[in-house]
Parts: sequence; C-alpha cells; structure tokens
Amino acid sequence: MSNPSLLILPGDGIGPEVMAEVRKVINWFNKNRDFEFNVSEGLVGGSAYERHGTPLHDDTLAQAQSADAILLGAVGGPKYDHLDFNLKPERGLLRLRKELDLFANLRPAQCFDALSDFSSLKNEIVAGLDILIVRELTSGVYFGEPRGIFEEGNERIGINTQRYTESEIERVARSAFDLAMQRDKKLCSMEKANVMETGILWREVVTRVGDDYPDIDLTHMYADAGAMQLTRWPKQFDVIVTDNLFGDLLSDLAAMLTGSLGMLPSASLGSQMPNGRPKALYEPVHGSAPDIAGTGKSNPIACILSFAMALRYSFNMREDADIIEYAVQSVLADGLRTADLLGQGDLAPISTSEMGDAIIAKLLVS
Ligand code: IPM
Ligand code: MG
Repeated sequence: MSNPSLLILPGDGIGPEVMAEVRKVINWFNKNRDFEFNVSEGLVGGSAYERHGTPLHDDTLAQAQSADAILLGAVGGPKYDHLDFNLKPERGLLRLRKELDLFANLRPAQCFDALSDFSSLKNEIVAGLDILIVRELTSGVYFGEPRGIFEEGNERIGINTQRYTESEIERVARSAFDLAMQRDKKLCSMEKANVMETGILWREVVTRVGDDYPDIDLTHMYADAGAMQLTRWPKQFDVIVTDNLFGDLLSDLAAMLTGSLGMLPSASLGSQMPNGRPKALYEPVHGSAPDIAGTGKSNPIACILSFAMALRYSFNMREDADIIEYAVQSVLADGLRTADLLGQGDLAPISTSEMGDAIIAKLLVS
C-alpha cells in the first residue's frame, strides 16, 4: 500500500491529550508495518478560533479534502460560550461534516465484558451488547432552511427546519442495510411518522430500499418508543438507522448503556473518492470534557478505537483493527482503569498516557 495520509485535528479540551495517545499507536504501526502513515496536524474548534478567528480555516478544510482519512479529538468548551453562533467551536465540526458530505455516521455501542457491571443498567441487560447506530449526518434539522431568530410582532421567534430529500434518505439507508448485511441482518429504522412528514417520507424510502435487501429483517419504530426499547432491552437491536437529531440523542443514550462514553468511537463516511476509499472522519463520541482537561484523567480508548475504525473502513486493515480492539479488551481484563471507569473496589486509576502505553504494550507484532 502506498503511504496513506492522515489529518489529525485534536481540537479542544481533552482532545489533544487523547490524540497524543493515538499518535503513539500510529507510531507503533509506522514502525511495525512496511508502509507509514503520513500524518499532518491542524486546528479545529476553539483552538482554531484562537489562532485564526474561525473554528475551521479554509486551508484546514482543503487539507481535510485531500487527506485519506481525518481523525478528530473533540471541540467546544465553556470559554467559547460568549462567541457568536457562527464562530462557536461546534460550527467547525458541522462545517467539516457538511463540506465533506459525510452523510453516514456509524456509532457502535459495544459493552466490553470487563465493564458490564459498570453500566447504570443491570448486567444481564447490557452484557454482550453490540449494536450499531447509523445516524444521518449532513441534513435534517441541523442544516434545514429557513433557520434563525426573527422578529414577529412584538416578540422573537426561533426557527429550524427539518428537511429531507428522498435521495438523502436513500443513501444513508443503503449504508445501514449494507452494514446490517455484514452483521446480524437486522435493521430497525426510527423516525416520528406519527407526527412528522419527514418521518412518513423516511419510512417510505427505507421500506423501498429494503426491497433490494430481502435477507434483512427490517422493522420501523417511532423514535420515542425506540429510546424506551433501547433502555428496556437493547439486545433486541442490531443496526438502527435514524435521522440527524434523533441519532444525536439515541447515540448518547446507547453510549451510556455500555458504561462509559469514554469508550465509544465513531466513523462519519461519505461517498467514494477516486482512490476507492470513502471520504471519512473518525472521532470519539465523547465531547471535550473541559472540566478534566489537563488532569490526566481522560480516557483515550474512544479515540484509539476511532483509529481502529479508520483502519477498518478507510484502509481495509481489518486484522490490524482487530489487534487494537483485542489490546483494549485485554488491558480492561487486566483491571486497568482510567478515572471515568472506576468502580467500587477498583484500585487507583491510571492516567491517560499510562492507558495509552498499556494498550501499545499489548499490540502484537505480526
Ligand atoms: C455529536 C455532538 C455534535 C452534534 C455537536 C458537538 C455539534 O453532540 O457529535 O453528537 O450535535 O452532532
Ligand atoms: Mg451528540
């Protein structure tokens, strides 16, 4: 394989410190494989605002457009609360997703054996859980027009618009069906067809796409009932496909089922580039956790597993992705815990960088 390029955008808060651990993992692969990742680094979010006065500089966007894959840490923090809406750190991330057209957001929620007691739900409900939420990421109420705060009469009104075209629904549905084909062949689509026209259209289009996938067991659920079922018996699900806003909520809920937000990676995939790879950005599901930034308490696992997803989905390095995932399972089985994973009776937590080093020590030279 010719040397693939990786753009690293550490972002804000704990982003840089968890990304530092990913860099160690990348260095390990650069030493132990017969090619090297060409890594470049850029700014996004509040850190980009501080340097350039914008949460995503055009040059960084251009770099992102030409990279083979992007790894992002996290954006945001209370010190940016005062900024104008369009300058807020989150706008940088949303612009990246939109400009690169990363329409399919894969958010796996997997319960690691060593952590099943750590969930707020009973062990038998979450043990062995392995579900995948596919969230539409470039449309819906996040981007629909008209939007804004307007004067009407003697008061102001806030407007956002939920808008989906058939082709937007169809492409994310296809991604979800394709992923379900590689898993347990069950897909549940969630919307609010009882209240929203976009929900009616969503259900129709997903059903029609389903005709091309006769092997998939397709079901539909209202998103509120879906939230309830996810906490009642999450193992009934395999793949869930849903819109941008419902996917934002349901993926946080699913993440917490597994015990820690600090464990979960995500991939945001777009259409194929000329080299056959999908446009892709990988990031942990957790946020920038400014309250613990710089204290060594953050958990680098979600970010390291996001790199594993990059190996799997961008570079077809499935075995190497497996090697990282085994290493993570193995350090957890050894009882190593960062502060967020500490249960009753556990020993003292290890730091962010100790966790990174422990994972690297488990990587197998093969
Ligand atoms: C997420 C986050 C983002 C979102 C924010 C940071 C813009 O919550 O990736 O889930 O709402 O999509
Ligand atoms: Mg979210």
